[in-house]
Amino acid sequence: MATSSPPVYVCRELVKRRLAATEGVAAGFELRVPRLKIHAGEVIVLRGQSGCGKSTLLDLLALALRPDTAETFSFRPEHREPTDLLRLWSRGDLNALGRLRGERLGYVLQTGGLLPFLTARENIALACRLLGRNPGGQIERLAERLGITAQLDKRPGQLSVGERQRVAIARAMAHRPGVILADEPTASVDPVTAVAIRELLLELVQKSGMTAIIATHDWMPEATLSGVQVLEHRIERDGALTRSLFWN
Ligand SMILES: Nc1ncnc2c1ncn2[C@@H]1O[C@H](COP(=O)(O)OP(=O)(O)O)[C@@H](O)[C@H]1O
Ligand SMILES: [Mg+2]
Repeated sequence: MATSSPPVYVCRELVKRRLAATEGVAAGFELRVPRLKIHAGEVIVLRGQSGCGKSTLLDLLALALRPDTAETFSFRPEHREPTDLLRLWSRGDLNALGRLRGERLGYVLQTGGLLPFLTARENIALACRLLGRNPGGQIERLAERLGITAQLDKRPGQLSVGERQRVAIARAMAHRPGVILADEPTASVDPVTAVAIRELLLELVQKSGMTAIIATHDWMPEATLSGVQVLEHRIERDGALTRSLFWN
């Protein structure tokens, strides 16, 4: 763990609310991150029950969801100067946010999120194509590591759920982003396949030195797994408001 270099993410008092409109009374859901630092190469697990805000936090870290307020919210992918995300959001600079997201992040969704009309190979190549990059042998390399070489020319509808998730992992990694976000990537596959896919995801992430943030409602990583950190989490009830806090 390279904790001496400046963090990839720094959050202080980051807040996102999903409020119901009820006559001046705060009701609904509030995600709060009092403090969070994620360093390059760390694997972070967001663990908590359904509805506790895991996807909301991932979407904030994916630069896909605008925070309501924050003291600090910065992102520093790969040896660059930290980017003040609050400034980009308040300026409405969606181009800069989209560029950072497209180049620096890979996102694995719970049910894959693959495009049904593209083959596995075309899905995996998509981010590279959008960035105008040649994936070189990267697709074949990832496919081999993930055991999906024989599936590359099939469409998602012709694949099992587990194969689709492997393709989704390859797709998130093919453009070599520094950060991988994964939203319950094994929630929809059977338990045996889930263990195999988790191990592959962790192995790929840790061998390549990527930073990973993985949401799960059931998986507790083995304490022996080095470099894996489960975020602290607490739920507070405040009248009709449910506040969910994540921090480290
Ligand atoms: N787009 C949205 N609009 C309003 N409320 C939302 C929206 N997305 C999520 N929520 C609410 O925010 C809370 C957290 O949801 P979510 O982040 O999806 O939790 P998790 O991923 O842990 O299941 C839930 O109460 C959910 O109903
Ligand atoms: Mg979720």
